[in-house]
Amino acid sequence: MIVVPGPASRELGRRVAEKLEAKTVDVFLKRFPDGECYIRFESEEFQGEDVAVVQTTAPPQHENLVQLFLMADTLKDFGAASITAVVPYFAYARQDKRFLPGEAFSVKTVVKLLENCGVDKIITVNAHNPKVLKNFNIPVMDLSAIPLLAEYFKREGLVENAVSLSVGKKALTVASEANSVLKGGFDYVPTQRDRVTGNVTLEAKKLPVEGRDVVIFDDIISSGGTMAKAVKMARENGARKVYAACVHPLLVGNAEEKILGSGAEAIVGTDCVPSKVSIVSVAAVTAKTKKKQW
Ligand code: R5P
Repeated sequence: MIVVPGPASRELGRRVAEKLEAKTVDVFLKRFPDGECYIRFESEEFQGEDVAVVQTTAPPQHENLVQLFLMADTLKDFGAASITAVVPYFAYARQDKRFLPGEAFSVKTVVKLLENCGVDKIITVNAHNPKVLKNFNIPVMDLSAIPLLAEYFKREGLVENAVSLSVGKKALTVASEANSVLKGGFDYVPTQRDRVTGNVTLEAKKLPVEGRDVVIFDDIISSGGTMAKAVKMARENGARKVYAACVHPLLVGNAEEKILGSGAEAIVGTDCVPSKVSIVSVAAVTAKTKKKQW
């Protein structure tokens, strides 16, 4: 097996290769003056190999997606027997249907493009709607990093008997997963998204957090607006310490400032998206899944 750490996930790719005790082939990347990407593998020896290419598609998502397409298609040209795309953050996963008439079903288009570039399987982590990803031709394995995040809080002793909260009722399973580690009970912060503006509002709710430590879990922190509002709500309900945890810390603009400013002790994320808060690694769980037959 060969692991290719893509330009957007070089560190995670190397960690996955170490866990798999697999050889790595590096990728040289440069940009042409007009912004186009140039990709060159340091070896062409992929004939008959089982290859895992690790490339997140966090912002700049278009560039990272194009790099992934170029890598997969080139691996196919070089005779790779199978190509697994490890895409820890799956761009466009939030547009998982046509919410309004005339809209693009973006996640479908991205999966189709990967398939056409020769990708045989996809491994992703806490994709926005894993069920939708299962509806296409290529098998998709969606992993959860929520237990890893919860274990981090436990291991570091950051919270005591903490309440696990999810953002939105649909994500209550996330809070329940975290609770299986933190064991302080779980609940959700109710949200509503305006389909036209994309703005998220929080509905009023009495949360069972008075005098308690709280960890709020979300799959993505993008602009930070949703998490900042959830932290504020937990504080207003009398929570003691409140932490923000997410799998994909996109942290666009002043997201971090917003969340810390609303009363969070810290933000903890994973290396699905490299950032200054990407403390928890998904390498081991990814490598374990790559080894399995599915
Ligand atoms: C929503 O569906 C997601 O789970 C996140 O809550 C959302 O993407 C966060 O976005 P933002 O940080 O921009 O509020």
